[in-house]
Amino acid sequence: SSNGLGKTPQMGWNSWNHFGCNIDENIIRGTADAMVSTGLSKVGYEYVNIDDCWGELNRDAQGNLVAKASTFPSGMKALVDYVHSKGLKLGIYSDAGYYTCSKTMPGSLGYEEQDAKTFASWGIDYLKYDNCFNNGTNPQERYPKMSEALSNAGCPIFYSMCEWGDQNPATWGPKIANSWRTTGDIQDNWDSITSRADQNDQWAAYAGPGGWNDPDMLEVGNGNMSTVEYRSHFSIWALMKAPLLIGCDIRSATSETLEILSNSEVINVNQDPLGVQGKKVSQQGDLEVWAGPLSNNRVAVILWNRSTSQDAITANWGAIGLPSDAIVQARDLWAHSYLPSDLQGSLTSTVDSHDVKMYILTLSSG
Ligand code: DGJ
Repeated sequence: SSNGLGKTPQMGWNSWNHFGCNIDENIIRGTADAMVSTGLSKVGYEYVNIDDCWGELNRDAQGNLVAKASTFPSGMKALVDYVHSKGLKLGIYSDAGYYTCSKTMPGSLGYEEQDAKTFASWGIDYLKYDNCFNNGTNPQERYPKMSEALSNAGCPIFYSMCEWGDQNPATWGPKIANSWRTTGDIQDNWDSITSRADQNDQWAAYAGPGGWNDPDMLEVGNGNMSTVEYRSHFSIWALMKAPLLIGCDIRSATSETLEILSNSEVINVNQDPLGVQGKKVSQQGDLEVWAGPLSNNRVAVILWNRSTSQDAITANWGAIGLPSDAIVQARDLWAHSYLPSDLQGSLTSTVDSHDVKMYILTLSSG
């Protein structure tokens, strides 16, 4: 999008994966507090995003959306002010149809200009725009309308398209949005992570500064996968330049969860200014190598073991875009250390089942 936002993938939190419709202003305030007290805001997480179910079922007499009085009694403007006072940004949610997916509040179809103005008047920084109850009408007409409305609203609002990948949004999203979903809803299990990674991978060429492929929000910390699986999930999302939107309850996140989400070395790969989406570059059965270029001639590499047993995985220079005679120094982003000696031609490491090894390779001088 040309709104100047999303030069790197968005980082923050969203209420949906953990709370679904059970949200209220105390959860949002508490999450903003926890974002700061856990140190997550320091490593780059900035958006606190409210998903579905924040509004009343009916618009007011003037046709404006209104915050649900029973759960958001202070209203959205007050909540925005609170989140801003913490140095964070507030995101909100609407739908390019007649209702949101929960059917507990109206969608914005036909009200794009009015709703964008409402969001701007509250000081909202981010809009996630869902795709339910659209009566089968064309997303390529409905989504640009809100994009235009947001740019006319007077202040920059990050635009996250949630069209679920139905009509190849990577091919038309970059002009109008800062990110677009490439998949259906994520779930807190291994199959969901691996299949979403593969689907999102197909669209790598369309991502770049200003607009990103979105394989859906993080499940790290929601409890149904192992620490190793969450580390894989986070590493691959970072390499794919996916939005890093935390989806657990960070007010009660464990130290294991926070350690994954706060790994600055992995986050730096995601936020690298070159903005090239890393891809699956080679595969032997369930043993995969994913890689992508970083600024300053560096390369990020993930050895991903999707199999049920420990195994050795090799990344060959040819596959990851390095000259075969290149000599490199390898930084292990989870061990936080350099490999003891320089490497030439390939990198091999043993990787536990469902785990990753993640590296940045830098050309050595000689
Ligand atoms: C479908 C979206 O894909 C989810 O991320 C979430 O926003 C729900 N709708 C909310 O109803």
